Amino acid sequence: MYAITINEYGDESKLIKQEGIPVPEPKSNQVLIKVKASSVNPIDLMKREGYGKVIFEKQRKNAFPWILGSDFSGTIEKVGSKVGNFKEGDNVWGCSSNANSGTHSEYVCIDVDEVTHKPDVISHLEAASLPYVALTTWSALVRWAGLRPQDLKEKRVFIQGGAGGVGCFSIQLFKSLECEVTVTCSKKNIDLVKSLGADQVIDYNEESFYESLKEFDIAYDLLGDHVLEDSVDKCCSILKLSSESHYITLTHPLVNTLDAKGLLLGGPHAYFLRQKQRKKYQPINVHWSIYRPSLSGLEQLSSLVQEESIKPVIDSVYSLNDLAAAHQKVSTGHVSGKVVLDHPE
Ligand SMILES: NC(=O)c1ccc[n+]([C@@H]2O[C@H](COP(=O)([O-])OP(=O)(O)OC[C@H]3O[C@@H](n4cnc5c(N)ncnc54)[C@H](OP(=O)(O)O)[C@@H]3O)[C@@H](O)[C@H]2O)c1
Repeated sequence: MYAITINEYGDESKLIKQEGIPVPEPKSNQVLIKVKASSVNPIDLMKREGYGKVIFEKQRKNAFPWILGSDFSGTIEKVGSKVGNFKEGDNVWGCSSNANSGTHSEYVCIDVDEVTHKPDVISHLEAASLPYVALTTWSALVRWAGLRPQDLKEKRVFIQGGAGGVGCFSIQLFKSLECEVTVTCSKKNIDLVKSLGADQVIDYNEESFYESLKEFDIAYDLLGDHVLEDSVDKCCSILKLSSESHYITLTHPLVNTLDAKGLLLGGPHAYFLRQKQRKKYQPINVHWSIYRPSLSGLEQLSSLVQEESIKPVIDSVYSLNDLAAAHQKVSTGHVSGKVVLDHPE
């Protein structure tokens, strides 16, 4: 089979098409999938450059070649001996969290708790745009913030960075849960985020959200200090001073700290940093979120897509053969929705 691999860390030029890779054999609890479409997430670019190598290298059988990519949509080619709920030819989708199962590949083996049947109202290309961003938000709300869908009804939610992959999904999710949603984005994306249901949009080039907004229940900060100095401070300043308020950031200190300090010292140091910030903003709850797989989240996503409460938002489609160009597009930091990859037959 073919795949796009890296053989060392670096820029887009390190992405190389490799042919003649043996097709993996599914373990008893896995399915082998012929991938029809996948997508690019900012984490792929970071991993390509060596982000998280302390932890991700430990998880891989061989450091290189490494196939990146998490989202997939495709058809079942073969099932493991203990798999009962899938058969050859089924259309499936999901997200791989296994460092040995990158999806920028012709075939991939996926554990059965990371795959489910694809909703038939969307194509493979559309399907590949959703699982990672959706399960990121699912993890953020359910796993890390401990919120249930019913806790969110009529809450006032602020999303910093509403126009990217995570933003376009989360606007629709919060609206489906009857929240009032305010987002930031640049001028070119205002109509897009409004079309997804945003009640209020702030053009970050024209206005500083923390000077005008107040009394929010939840701040979902997709960009953190990458784009806004003292982002935690500014987002927390618009929240109600209450133990019912939540600030959730996707900028988690763990992986960077592990890279800087190693496995032994990095974990406790990241924990120390988090505890320090938690204390500072009390009674507001401060959460650092990191993607975690969730079959129940994926099944919930399938229902929301099937009933058309969530629609895929695609910035652009590239052939998998043009993965380097797709990485360049994501690296601009200004996509509108998702960059999706069409896998050649
Ligand atoms: N912790 C985790 O597990 C996890 C999981 C997924 C993603 N993430 C992180 O979450 C972030 C968002 O991911 P994504 O997939 O949505 O990224 P993305 O698709 O690349 O989106 C980036 C978006 O950021 C917006 N943006 C740039 N500067 C901005 C600013 N100053 N204010 C407001 N919006 C701004 C852009 O909109 P404009 O073009 O309108 O500026 C663009 O739409 C990334 O940093 C990613 O690494 C973390």
